[in-house]
Amino acid sequence: MLHKLIRRKPERQNQSLAERISHTKKDQIPEHIAIIMDGNGRWAKKRALPRVAGHHEGMKTVRKITRLANDLGVGALTVYAFSTENWKRPKLEVDFIMRLPEEFLGTYLPELIEQNVRVVMMGENDTLPRHTQEAVRKAMEATKNNTGLILNFALNYGSRAEIAQAMQKIAQLVEEGSLSSSEVTEDLISQHLMTCELPEPDLLIRTSGEVRLSNFMLWQLAYTEFWFTETLWPDFDENCLLDAVDSYQNRNRRYGGLKGEESN
Ligand code: FPP
Repeated sequence: MLHKLIRRKPERQNQSLAERISHTKKDQIPEHIAIIMDGNGRWAKKRALPRVAGHHEGMKTVRKITRLANDLGVGALTVYAFSTENWKRPKLEVDFIMRLPEEFLGTYLPELIEQNVRVVMMGENDTLPRHTQEAVRKAMEATKNNTGLILNFALNYGSRAEIAQAMQKIAQLVEEGSLSSSEVTEDLISQHLMTCELPEPDLLIRTSGEVRLSNFMLWQLAYTEFWFTETLWPDFDENCLLDAVDSYQNRNRRYGGLKGEESN
């Protein structure tokens, strides 16, 4: 079933990457793509490497996909790099992942700046190690005026915690009397989430064959198109992203209504 969904169209198989990119650009490009980057551990295991080698390779995929997303004209790319549940992993693995933003931004910040990419982060910043906070803070500062792709790292992020935190802020405003309960609308809730400056994702990608949300952007994904692939994140390449965007371009988004002639 999953395999059927991801099979590349025959006419795409012989196209060069440049031809595919130019073809994809002719149709509607998702404004915001969110990715659950899964399968790093399995990628490493298949090669008899330690799990962290998979995370390191996955970091290189982030670079590749950021570049293409920016080139396609995607407005925002959110990547799930570390969830609030990932602290349960062995300390060595957690420590390694927490060093990756430093390595990624230390290595690629100049090219992100050159590509006009703006780096932002969502998640619980205060409980991240100091060195991770500092790497992200520096990159955010250095790219804050960039107007190209927004690269949003979901780091120490959990959607339920995000929603609970938004509710606490709103409840406080009601308690103080600066808001009435009837003013608590969907828009107001959205404005109190960590994504308040981003549009809702148009396309969600999850790699590695897992078909679940894992506490990721539960509110924001209400009308998002989902695309699942068995490809492991370190193997996810430009053609995979184009497959996902091509599939998105062939969806009929109805937002609960009817489209075209059906609605007359
Ligand atoms: C899930 O795969 C992946 C993660 C928990 C970490 C994701 C992190 C990266 C891809 C690198 C992030 C890069 C930067 C720049 C911060 P898994 O370990 O659960 O894989 P498995 O299911 O095969 O074990």
